[in-house]
Amino acid sequence: MHDERLLCGWESKHAALWNQAPICIGHRLHELPEFTLDALARLIESYPRENYSIIHMGNRETDRRFWREGDLGGLNGQDVISAIANGRLWLNLRNVGEVAPEIGRMAETIFSELHKLVPGLATWNHRCGILVSSPNAQVYYHADLPAHALFQLIGRKRVYFYPPHEPFIRAEDLEHIAIYGLEVDIPYSRWYDEYACVFDFDPGQMLYWPHTAPHRIDNYDCLNVSLTLDFVTEAVRRKQMVTLANGILRYRFGLNPESDATTGPLFWSKALLQKMLRNSDWIKAKKASHRRIEFRLDKSTPGAILEM
Ligand SMILES: [Fe+2]
Repeated sequence: MHDERLLCGWESKHAALWNQAPICIGHRLHELPEFTLDALARLIESYPRENYSIIHMGNRETDRRFWREGDLGGLNGQDVISAIANGRLWLNLRNVGEVAPEIGRMAETIFSELHKLVPGLATWNHRCGILVSSPNAQVYYHADLPAHALFQLIGRKRVYFYPPHEPFIRAEDLEHIAIYGLEVDIPYSRWYDEYACVFDFDPGQMLYWPHTAPHRIDNYDCLNVSLTLDFVTEAVRRKQMVTLANGILRYRFGLNPESDATTGPLFWSKALLQKMLRNSDWIKAKKASHRRIEFRLDKSTPGAILEM
């Protein structure tokens, strides 16, 4: 079934724009049987606890930063989807490529197509996720440390991308993400939107954007399902190393690191520093301080939650 290409509508301009500006191209994942709502319900139902997050999001205007993590509470797959369709929820299925190897193979097909389409592109640490989110849900302004591509499967959303530099994102914001693992905790002002690149994102479209470009998402009034691919390149890996090292220097040692060079002796000493400390108890404690399960889905009322 994978004899046809999964990406479509590629033009030479997309290779020129790759990693320089957000781009939108076509795909045909949304036509495949693995991504119908029934198939997704079956996937959700058996999803390993350690590989998903269910997030409850605040009311759009009053609780912009209200963001809590919960549990599916033993609901079957159809009921989870119905809870999301009726609530203010966001389900993140991580490591889909391992849990569902057929989807992992599709992801690898996409990566090999991209490697042919973008001259010189080499990627690794491929991971694949599925995001199921409620009508009108938002993903707040944030930036990601891996490179990401987003594929729309079901529903419609509006995606805003911002330039990957100050004042939209500062080095210390990225360091904060590297240390605390909480991507949405970065400053945002409404006027940033005047500088955003905005897409209405429909099934059959894929978005890719420059590494660490901040973005935010507003769902339209419909259930949304998207697939994410994340990966690193050599440039992304080096940026991650220097960001984590600078974060350690800032938050652990109270310094104010100014260089974000990804070559040279200073870079290599930072590479060593982050390698020694990235699995330390200090880092683990910082990340854990933001991850606590606070609610579960209510079996009797789709979309409602119960406090834990
Ligand atoms: Fe993101």
